[in-house]
Amino acid sequence: MHKVLWLTDPHLIELDETTSQPPTEAWQRFRLCLDEIRREHADAELIVLTGDLVQLSNPGAYGLLREELERLPMPYRLLVGNHDDRAALHGAFPDIPMAGGFVQGSDDIGETRLIYLDTLASEGHHGELCPYRLDWLAEQLVAASARSVLIFLHHPPMEIGVPALDRLRLLESEGLSDLLQLRRAPTHLFCGHVHRNVSGRWSGHPFATLKSTNTQFAFDMQASRLIRCDEDPGYGVLLFDDERVIVNYVDISIDR
Ligand SMILES: [Fe+2]
Repeated sequence: MHKVLWLTDPHLIELDETTSQPPTEAWQRFRLCLDEIRREHADAELIVLTGDLVQLSNPGAYGLLREELERLPMPYRLLVGNHDDRAALHGAFPDIPMAGGFVQGSDDIGETRLIYLDTLASEGHHGELCPYRLDWLAEQLVAASARSVLIFLHHPPMEIGVPALDRLRLLESEGLSDLLQLRRAPTHLFCGHVHRNVSGRWSGHPFATLKSTNTQFAFDMQASRLIRCDEDPGYGVLLFDDERVIVNYVDISIDR
């Protein structure tokens, strides 16, 4: 089976290299994940990061992220989340695939098509897919025809039962839902943003979300505001061929 690594929401911040400031928790935890990947998963064909690559107002962190990713043995693909800045990302990664000004692209691995979607809204922390991005996705799905597809996007389109997170999901997701309901071939959604491992089915197809490499949000079905919790960071290992998709969740032990 093919192996693809999946990381999300590192929320990296700029480091002042002129001082002896120690790396922040976000960087420490992100590097622990990358160290384990170098040790255990150097055979992976690709690593996908599903957005919120940097913390808000930290565009300088993209350059440091690039240095870290260039040291990995496998190629990488990046998505934007609500904390990201497309222009700053493009500045640090000028070769990043773009479509119509959005950070979108696709790869074929074996018989499977991997599609990367840009759900960044023009304003606010929720997600959106404008008609251009939806049309682009529709073309990608037509081109994939009956082949298996993995769609990566930052904002989940579905409610997961945590109200403070559900308010910030991909809103007005009917267009995406319609595309999926029309599609008979196996299609799997992989979402970031919620800093939790969740799986299920939506619009006729399976989905998975992933915990952050940094800090997690609590499973709180009552609170009106986001609650952080002290669960371990982690990443995902996806194994697939044209018949199967296996989602493995890996936790990273940290010193507290
Ligand atoms: Fe996010």
